[in-house]
Amino acid sequence: MIQLTDIHKTYKVGKKSVHALKGVSLSVNRGEIFGVIGFSGAGKSTLLRTVNLLEKPTSGKVIVNGVDLLQLSERELRLSRKKIGMIFQQFNLLNSYNVFDNVAEILRMNKVSKQVIKRKVDSLLLLVGLQDKAGEYPSQLSGGQKQRVGIARALAMDPELLLCDEATSALDPHTTESILDLLLDINEKLGLTIVLITHEMEVIKKICDRVAVLEQGEIIEQGSVLDIFSRPQAPTTKNFIRTIFDDAIPTMMLNNILVERPVSKVVRISFRGEAALNPVLHSLAVRFSVVTNVLSGSMITVKGMPLGMMLLHISGEEEAIMRAIGYLEQTVHHVDVIQELGVVKP
Ligand SMILES: Nc1ncnc2c1ncn2[C@@H]1O[C@H](COP(=O)(O)OP(=O)(O)O)[C@@H](O)[C@H]1O
Ligand SMILES: [Mg+2]
Repeated sequence: MIQLTDIHKTYKVGKKSVHALKGVSLSVNRGEIFGVIGFSGAGKSTLLRTVNLLEKPTSGKVIVNGVDLLQLSERELRLSRKKIGMIFQQFNLLNSYNVFDNVAEILRMNKVSKQVIKRKVDSLLLLVGLQDKAGEYPSQLSGGQKQRVGIARALAMDPELLLCDEATSALDPHTTESILDLLLDINEKLGLTIVLITHEMEVIKKICDRVAVLEQGEIIEQGSVLDIFSRPQAPTTKNFIRTIFDDAIPTMMLNNILVERPVSKVVRISFRGEAALNPVLHSLAVRFSVVTNVLSGSMITVKGMPLGMMLLHISGEEEAIMRAIGYLEQTVHHVDVIQELGVVKP
């Protein structure tokens, strides 16, 4: 659906230049929800705006729906853009227009007949759950309701693609949940492809199929959300994952461990939620003569799929620990040794 190839973007500000995107390549499949996560200033908005050429890249290729957007005339580009909806953190509604007119505006601009507009807007307001708010003005709406209007408006021209720029960042957690549910719903009902950018891992976790981590204008990691959650590689990715599952070991705990069991390792394991873990932990003790302590653990839901994360402290003979970890690697989804204690490295 989308292919970005080696995108560079440099902003000139006076005599200075800001290299906002440095060779970004990514592809988004039709019908998927693709997330881009990064800190503020990473280049997320620039990247998103490249997809509909609101921001023209300095170099690189932008293919959307098989069309090379950079080759289009202004007129052709305007036509293509109609098939790309966009929503924003600050909603960008017209404050002097009521809800109905906010959604109808773009249809009027495209000379759609009055009758069709009425039918279309009514069905969109029903879809986003605002059927009884048609006559109200943005100032009378809550943040979540404003974003619902934003979504209805973005869907007015029957886009195949929806771009979301921090669409839930101005909302409280509860409202965020409901807006994400709505996005998931329209993704499934309408088969709409969604690209969203965010700085919140919760958003990625709840609705995305795949994710790319953007740092200082470069994609440092990308993959399926389940894979990225279970084996993050880059330090920044690990930091984002820590906002969901904290794998830091309190210093006091570490000190106690060191005194009691000088040779040991701390491993972070992840496992598919449906896998039973108790027999595995039992086997560690029986088959490998190691002592295993659960330091922390939690079960998270990644787009409806349960994923377990656990921090284990394994102690015993060095050799036995290694064999126990080998066994874990074959049994659970992923194992990461995050601390080696008291082991003298050759
Ligand atoms: N119109 C612009 N002119 C100059 N610099 C810009 C412009 N837009 C963004 N930048 C700079 O590009 C970098 C990336 O910005 P942006 O894409 O907005 O990041 P994010 O959305 O991840 O916060 C930042 O250093 C920002 O200051
Ligand atoms: Mg931004």
